[in-house]
Amino acid sequence: MAAPKTYKNYINGEWVEARCGKTFENVNPADRSDVIGYFQASDKCDLDEAVAAAKAAYHPWRLTPPPKRAEILFKAAQMLVERKEELAREMTREMGKILKETRGDVQEAIDMGFYMAGEGRRQFGYTTTSELRNKFAMCVRQPLGVCGMITPWNFPMAIPSWKILPALVLGNTVVFKPATDTPLSGYNFTRILNEAGLPKGVLNFVTGSGSRVGNPLMTHPDVSVISFTGSTEVGREVSKACAPDFRHCHLEMGGKNIILVMDDANLDLAVDGALWGGFGTTGQRCTASSRVGVHKKVYRQFIDKFVERAKALKVGNGLDPSVEIGQNEGAKLLCGGEPLTSGDYANGWFYAPTIFGDCDPRMRVSQEEIFGPVVSVIPFDNFDQAIEIANGVVYGLSSSIYTQDVNRAFAAMRDLYTGIVYINAPTIGAEIHLPFGGVKQTGNGHREAGVAGLDVFSEWKSIYVDFSGTLQRAQIDT
Ligand code: UN1
Repeated sequence: MAAPKTYKNYINGEWVEARCGKTFENVNPADRSDVIGYFQASDKCDLDEAVAAAKAAYHPWRLTPPPKRAEILFKAAQMLVERKEELAREMTREMGKILKETRGDVQEAIDMGFYMAGEGRRQFGYTTTSELRNKFAMCVRQPLGVCGMITPWNFPMAIPSWKILPALVLGNTVVFKPATDTPLSGYNFTRILNEAGLPKGVLNFVTGSGSRVGNPLMTHPDVSVISFTGSTEVGREVSKACAPDFRHCHLEMGGKNIILVMDDANLDLAVDGALWGGFGTTGQRCTASSRVGVHKKVYRQFIDKFVERAKALKVGNGLDPSVEIGQNEGAKLLCGGEPLTSGDYANGWFYAPTIFGDCDPRMRVSQEEIFGPVVSVIPFDNFDQAIEIANGVVYGLSSSIYTQDVNRAFAAMRDLYTGIVYINAPTIGAEIHLPFGGVKQTGNGHREAGVAGLDVFSEWKSIYVDFSGTLQRAQIDT
């Protein structure tokens, strides 16, 4: 294998080293002896240069017609299609999920690219009537300026694409700080967008730690918006950092998503859903089904099938094509519960698929986000109790119900208080043309993806055109 390469920052159209000359190592989590590359350990001075470049590039980019901006996004999406396999392989090597899933991650960026390219010819506002006789009224979206994107490691190309592509098509410029565990996927994404034709300074890429790059980004006076995906703990800090200057801030944080299995559910389908939702991406999606509520009438049957199937899952290196997927409060440990450290697992970070049974909804395993292959199963007596358990956490990203009763399904669609609801499907698998985000401590009232995803990176401007040739006072002033 070739010696690991050193990757640079991208600032003002050039690949540059961090001023301090320091780098950090990016290693394969399935094999710590496999060094993927060295990345710039940047700090505030590099970040300041990136923000200055993004600021200088803003006005020319803002004035570039949106369909032209969109053509670049379209071209980048085509390049992602051509390089999908290679990008997926590099992603699996740096963050561990299996190839099928890293291909999916790149695919989300492709989908978002084509979708947001379409927004180059939409970005619809509306025209409307005026309360006065000779006056015209309309509203349009306007960009905000420099956007700071702070992104997580679990979807290292998809999530940056949800933020960067809408921001760019709307006419903003960007400083992108990827997670320290997955800088290579961020680097690849940046490289492709720039090769597709972005003018210099429009998209800048700075690697490094949260404290040395993320903090100065979120407090920088020339940054208009911060978009952050990560833990609720860090999100709270981002929110505080943005508050004094009223910097716009979009947060996408933790979850404790639930699948409800009713007594009339197709149980085999529900087991399939719980396995995929709970252990797909090793449970490390913010949408992961980390709780499963099961009606007491079918609880035993469900648990037996679920535990048997979880025990049979194959854990291992994501590049190996045969790998599928990855108590003291009184919960019953039914399988897993420990790191895997011997044999093929010795050089990596692996954890056995874990199920806790007979959980009380108030236990920590039923309340707190674990972000790993751990599912808590909670028995319930009836529909009302199921909804109460589902909504009884501080988070509100995704939820699901398995039932064959259409009335129950509609009642659940109404009563589950989450940003995303699934019927007869697990809590993961959101599509990019619908709003993505959560209520309560999962978010702060914004959404990514879909048309709603444009709102974070634009503001409304209402325009009144008076063609009367006289002073017409507004209705309230006459
Ligand atoms: C995340 O886990 O951070 O809905 C995003 C899904 C994926 C995205 C997950 N499309 O499961």
